[in-house]
Amino acid sequence: MSKCHIEPATIFANVSQVVTCAGPGRARRGAEMRDAGVRTGVGVAVLDNRVADVAPLTDLRSQFSDAREIDCRGGVLTPGLVDSHTHGIFGRPRFEEQEMRAAGLDYMEIARRGGGIHSSVRDLRALDEETLIALARPRLMRLAAFGTTTIEVKSGYGLTLDDELKTLRVIARLTRELPVRIVPTFLGAHEIPLEHRESAASRRAYVDALVHEMIPAVAARGLARFADVFCETGVYTVDESREILTAARNAGLGIKMHADELSSAGGAELAAQLNATSADHLAAVSDHGIAALASADTVATVLPGTMLFLGKTAHAPARRLIEAAVPLALATDFNPGTSPTPNFPLILALGVSQLRLSVAEAVVAATVNGAAALSLADRVGQITRGYSADLALFDIGDIRELPYWYGDNRCVATFVGGKTCHQSDLAVT
Ligand code: NIG
Ligand code: FE
Repeated sequence: MSKCHIEPATIFANVSQVVTCAGPGRARRGAEMRDAGVRTGVGVAVLDNRVADVAPLTDLRSQFSDAREIDCRGGVLTPGLVDSHTHGIFGRPRFEEQEMRAAGLDYMEIARRGGGIHSSVRDLRALDEETLIALARPRLMRLAAFGTTTIEVKSGYGLTLDDELKTLRVIARLTRELPVRIVPTFLGAHEIPLEHRESAASRRAYVDALVHEMIPAVAARGLARFADVFCETGVYTVDESREILTAARNAGLGIKMHADELSSAGGAELAAQLNATSADHLAAVSDHGIAALASADTVATVLPGTMLFLGKTAHAPARRLIEAAVPLALATDFNPGTSPTPNFPLILALGVSQLRLSVAEAVVAATVNGAAALSLADRVGQITRGYSADLALFDIGDIRELPYWYGDNRCVATFVGGKTCHQSDLAVT
């Protein structure tokens, strides 16, 4: 190992468990998800922003004699959680819709009446970049406060070229400013804008704008890594989704999809056919859709917080997806309409109690497989030599406590590339 380092190493000492998730730098499937690589009696050394070693403390101390030490006080160290699905840039929270649903109006009915996504679109169009940044900054740092170190952030409440570019510029500025790792996704196909719903020709004009103007403009400016489409009955059809996502791929963007969230419309099959990086939601996926995903590299990202918050009893068939060897990821879907929680460990709790995942499966789904859903599995999501030192420290003595204290926040600190990202009042000394 080279000795000419700019900064000395850092050793994370006094850890009860290091949950390494060590293994291949790609999505894990089937039985591979059962091993979260839990190690005891070891610490973690970080050098030049990367994990340098996971080994007994005495070894680390002799290897890195000039290291500073962080006393983890018997906590559990995990890879920083990777939240691969959020809609983190919005204006007003939509709390009024929760009572409307309780009174019997369902999510799509609220949208048909001009609420839902349309309501956030009206709102965001009226806000300038500075206001959106001021709103998003503390919200994204709330996600970080629960142990998340990588956040995918979608646009999708603008639905005009200018308002989508405005949103993506906000994401780009936050990427530079915040200590958390951010991955930007263009979701101009989040809804058919109300002004394009009046006729088939007008609807077509918006799809044309997406394909011929918006996607090329976003790609040319380097403002997004992925493009996404809400493929759902009443929103984008499978054919429209195919056209939009093909244009995105041709422009050099990766492909993600909102697929089979509320109805089985063929979204999973399309995601598999296009070999999308991820197909997300899948609460209504068919057996045929599961089989199609099993034959692709696509990560199935399930979002149990959304189903919980919408008051639905159906959940994505996570067990059947795992049994079919489809790689499974968990994410928050943080957004103002269907999942306003920043609490990723709560989603792990739902993963275990509602989706019947083992703790190891839930942890792998929230780290390695979340990273794979963002094409980052070769550098984040594991505590392994050479990986970015993106770490989360929790005030628990056993990883099984992470989904157990549901709704609580046990995150003490997070680190991105070895640098402090979030630190709670329970200071790490
Ligand atoms: O993932 N389904 C579409 N998009 C979001 C909801 C967005 C909203 O209601 O504002 C979702 O659930
Ligand atoms: Fe979503």
